[in-house]
Amino acid sequence: MRAWRVVGDGGIDALQLEDVAEEAVGPQDVRVQMKACSLNYRDLSVVGGGYPRNDTRPVIALSDGAGEVVEVGENVTRFKKGDRVCPIFVRDWISGPPTDALLKTGLGGGVDGVLAENRVFSQESLVSIPEYLSYEQAATLPCAAVTAWHALFVSGELQPGQTVLLLGTGGVSIFALQMAKAAGAKVIVTSSSDEKLQRAKQLGADETINYREYPEWHKEVHKLTGGVGVDHVVEVGGPGTLERSLKAASVGGRIHLIGVLDSPTSKVGPLPVVFNLLRVQGIYVGSRVMFEQMNAAFVANQIEPVIDATYSFDDAKQAYEALSRQQHLGKIVITL
Ligand SMILES: NC(=O)c1ccc[n+]([C@@H]2O[C@H](COP(=O)([O-])OP(=O)(O)OC[C@H]3O[C@@H](n4cnc5c(N)ncnc54)[C@H](OP(=O)(O)O)[C@@H]3O)[C@@H](O)[C@H]2O)c1
Repeated sequence: MRAWRVVGDGGIDALQLEDVAEEAVGPQDVRVQMKACSLNYRDLSVVGGGYPRNDTRPVIALSDGAGEVVEVGENVTRFKKGDRVCPIFVRDWISGPPTDALLKTGLGGGVDGVLAENRVFSQESLVSIPEYLSYEQAATLPCAAVTAWHALFVSGELQPGQTVLLLGTGGVSIFALQMAKAAGAKVIVTSSSDEKLQRAKQLGADETINYREYPEWHKEVHKLTGGVGVDHVVEVGGPGTLERSLKAASVGGRIHLIGVLDSPTSKVGPLPVVFNLLRVQGIYVGSRVMFEQMNAAFVANQIEPVIDATYSFDDAKQAYEALSRQQHLGKIVITL
């Protein structure tokens, strides 16, 4: 079978389309014919060699995919042939708190991922796809959506009426927008692009700020919240944005630390954490149970993932290049 593997750390050219041996299906295993995959910013870090805990080489690329069950082992009870499934991002994190060993099993980094014609997974490492979602839509969920869910609803305990600040319009932020609005929150979205902010409004954003036009965007956040600040910041920017995110939060606000998109070596002054009693929590994707709970919320609210562009399996490198241009809003998908 054919698979795209990350064979080095030289960026997108580290991806190679190869013929690899099909895996055997053990008694607890399921073979999944992959139908669609999606990209995350993390996948650029993996091919660039800069992703912590996930430096296995060669490794089948990408964490996020969806497919059809085509073969089941003799002891499999959770799935049958024909079922539609998504592998979970952290292969061995089923429920409860994670451990270092579990976190080393991230698909497409620590262990083989999904950008292959078929893959074999333990039945425990798969979730069912909600009926109303296509394979392409479902393939967007395992990393970005589960991360946003974990931040806002598991760790963040978001309440209706609270205010949420989202940085940029990438995969995590757009899922956070859709989920926060479904939960009755007020949402402020920042972006470098007025056009993207317009789309964010169409998706339900209450307020928008162009962070290029307003580099002191935390001050705009205070203006938009009557001087109070926001209850939650979904912090995907990292050291380059964190100090402003801390300043944008209300007293007792929660900062969900998720990513590093901007100025990784910037220094951050921590004083607002102390004086405003902020709660700063690192978030790393989530468990299978979180994914299943999120799917229930998606079904209840009929949330439709936002797909910006779709590429063929053979054009996988073009999908990576599109992600690296950062012109997208929401998700970039590869179909098989
Ligand atoms: N911890 C975890 O479990 C986890 C899970 C998923 C993602 N992440 C991390 O979260 C980050 C986002 O991932 P993603 O897949 O959603 O990325 P993505 O789809 O590539 O989106 C990136 C977007 O971020 C925005 N951005 C870039 N610099 C910014 C800045 N200085 N201020 C505000 N927005 C900025 C841009 O939006 P505009 O074009 O609108 O300006 C850009 O399009 C990455 O660092 C990723 O590694 C972590």
